[in-house]
Amino acid sequence: MSDFDHIASQMPDPFRLLWRERVSSTNDELRALAEKGMAEGLVLVAEEQTAGRGRRGAEWFSPKGESLAFSVLLRPLDPKAFWHRLSLVAGLAVAEAVERFVPLAEIKWPNDVLIGGKKIAGILVEAGSDFVIVGIGINVNTDTFPEGLAATSLAIERGEDVPRGEVLLAVVERLAHHSNRLGGGFEGLLAGIRERCHLTGRRVTLTCAEKRREGVVRGIGMGGELLLECDGNIEQIVQADEVRLVAPKG
Ligand code: BTN
Repeated sequence: MSDFDHIASQMPDPFRLLWRERVSSTNDELRALAEKGMAEGLVLVAEEQTAGRGRRGAEWFSPKGESLAFSVLLRPLDPKAFWHRLSLVAGLAVAEAVERFVPLAEIKWPNDVLIGGKKIAGILVEAGSDFVIVGIGINVNTDTFPEGLAATSLAIERGEDVPRGEVLLAVVERLAHHSNRLGGGFEGLLAGIRERCHLTGRRVTLTCAEKRREGVVRGIGMGGELLLECDGNIEQIVQADEVRLVAPKG
């Protein structure tokens, strides 16, 4: 019996759970199933990942039995031009879900989820020709992190362990609610994303189209892009390598 058996019957339609003891990466395993034609809504959760991946090819730290590592298969009905918004939408779903356990989660554009400035969850969205895999890692009951990682967990923030199944269910519920609002309904999600935006008002550096930019973040645009003020102009950043803070807010 896994920590997740009891939530399998509570998943919102069409989501359904597939539990694995050990996989390379839930994103890779789910992609293989998607390519064979698996229907939308499969949620693959693994106790252990031997090759869990973060963004920009980084290794993802996810200790067995303590953290949550899962991927969700979506086949969005919205036009492909809007699929990149799933990055932000997944960040919102995770932020809202963790707020059932701790107050005030923030989103560091595009989709790191932070509590008190420390990372509590990371998201890796990967698209195929007719599907999207949303891979989510959440520090649930992790109590120690490798040196140099500015990370926290739900258990550290609450002072007690949190049932991983409940966290997974909360994320899937929020994702089910938001994932078909990439086109028409996206405006309705922007308020939730903007109010949790960790970067607004902060000076950052980032690399975009191989050019290094430095400026002050002025918010999130109507399409989910980062609005960066550089030399008096507002630039719309759609995709960027790691965004680094260079100064405190103000
Ligand atoms: C990041 O912040 O760099 C993204 C981390 C994403 C980690 C999750 S864990 C489940 C899924 N499988 C993976 O190999 N990666 C994602």
